[in-house]
Amino acid sequence: MTSIPTRQPWGEAATPYLELGGDDRVRDLVEHFYDRVDDSAPTLRAMLPKNDSVSRQKLYEFLSGWMGGPPLYMEKRGHPRLRMRHFPFEIGLPEVEEWLRCMHEAMDEVEVTGRLRTYLDEQFHRSAHWMRNR
Ligand code: HEM
Repeated sequence: MTSIPTRQPWGEAATPYLELGGDDRVRDLVEHFYDRVDDSAPTLRAMLPKNDSVSRQKLYEFLSGWMGGPPLYMEKRGHPRLRMRHFPFEIGLPEVEEWLRCMHEAMDEVEVTGRLRTYLDEQFHRSAHWMRNR
């Protein structure tokens, strides 16, 4: 019997999470993202608590499940209701663009490339614009 190669939009692995390389890589991406926010995104940084370790942990847990890996956020904290949770923050186009720029730079730094990169660019773009509330 010949096996039929599956071609998912993000690459060859069963999930974007596996295509990225699993838990350590998700963690790495989030650390780079928040480092970019700390260094270069004053508007976003001003919305975050002084110690952003919980923000880092939450985004890591969320992205794990969002990419098809272990649903850490849901297990610990329930349904994310992300749009609602972002209502307290003024998110207009400049904030969306700042968030996406930091995520793009983080993906450059941890070398997310190829079809996975195209796929994640699209998914992050969609999610970030969905969070816009101004
Ligand atoms: C569009 C621009 C965005 C802005 C300005 C923004 C800003 C914020 C801020 C200020 C917080 C609160 C952090 C804290 O209390 O520690 C937060 C939480 C969070 N954000 Fe965003 N965010 C954006 C987009 C996104 C996107 C696209 C995602 C997912 C792909 C995301 C996922 C999360 C998660 C999982 C949390 C934690 C929620 C919780 O349990 O409190 N955010 N965001």
